[in-house]
Amino acid sequence: MLTVFGVGEAPFAFSSKAGKEFQSTIRKAGTVTEALHKLEVGRKVGIRGPFGKSFPLVELKKAKSIIIVAGGIGLPPLRSLIQYIIANDFPKQIILYGARTPADLLYKNKFEKWKRDPKTKMLVTVDNGDDKWKGNVGVVTTLFDKIKVPENAKVVTVGPAIMMKFVIRKCLELGVKPEDIIVSLENRMTCGYGKCGNCAYGKYLVCKDGPVFTYEQIKDIQGIF
Ligand SMILES: Cc1cc2nc3c(=O)[nH]c(=O)nc-3n(C[C@H](O)[C@H](O)[C@H](O)COP(=O)(O)OP(=O)(O)OC[C@H]3O[C@@H](n4cnc5c(N)ncnc54)[C@H](O)[C@@H]3O)c2cc1C
Ligand code: FES
Repeated sequence: MLTVFGVGEAPFAFSSKAGKEFQSTIRKAGTVTEALHKLEVGRKVGIRGPFGKSFPLVELKKAKSIIIVAGGIGLPPLRSLIQYIIANDFPKQIILYGARTPADLLYKNKFEKWKRDPKTKMLVTVDNGDDKWKGNVGVVTTLFDKIKVPENAKVVTVGPAIMMKFVIRKCLELGVKPEDIIVSLENRMTCGYGKCGNCAYGKYLVCKDGPVFTYEQIKDIQGIF
């Protein structure tokens, strides 16, 4: 939880390894995020946390292969996972990344480095190309048609709710089991540590039980997607 003093507080994911220092990638959405964008270098912010559960690294390491599906601002939390996978001898990973336009693609300077990793394959698409764009055009789920989903793959997806809904649907069609589909949910948060109940989805508190869940855990909860 990052606080801009005198303005407010909001939750963010780590987009890098987190230790004495960390990075977050922040989209301007409203009051707190606009204030964060306006801060000058050297100004102080408040930090609480980290809260909640991370990606299941032990289980992911045991999987035969991992498919990472990111939509738009969903890439930042996955960037820390992608870098961890590359640095820690995980099984092979396929990254499928979609953004609205070429200008909306985040971390473009990292793509070549990720693609150089022998166990990483990365495909990128945009909903709408421009004159210079020579790559794929179409929503991120269209990239599934360009890969063979390995048997027993684990899928990790982060992005807008509508995008995750279609990624989950596609994965189920392709035979991925609900317990092997891992999503990161967003909800409004206040306390961040399970006291206020503001972030509840069904029986779960996103700040404490999540934000990372398997689809098996949440599939019967109304109103998430
Ligand atoms: C676990 C978690 C991780 C997140 N990680 C990131 C991250 O890495 N980078 C990033 O840019 N953002 C991230 N977010 C989203 C971020 O917290 C919101 O954009 C932020 O709270 C907006 O605050 P604000 O004061 O700027 O906007 P506000 O002024 O509070 O709201 C602006 C508009 O956005 C809507 N809104 C605000 N928060 C949410 C939300 N969580 N879901 C849906 N609508 C919302 C409001 O209803 C309003 O319409 C994350 C959220 C969660 C819960
Ligand atoms: S934000 Fe208070 S319980 Fe989750």
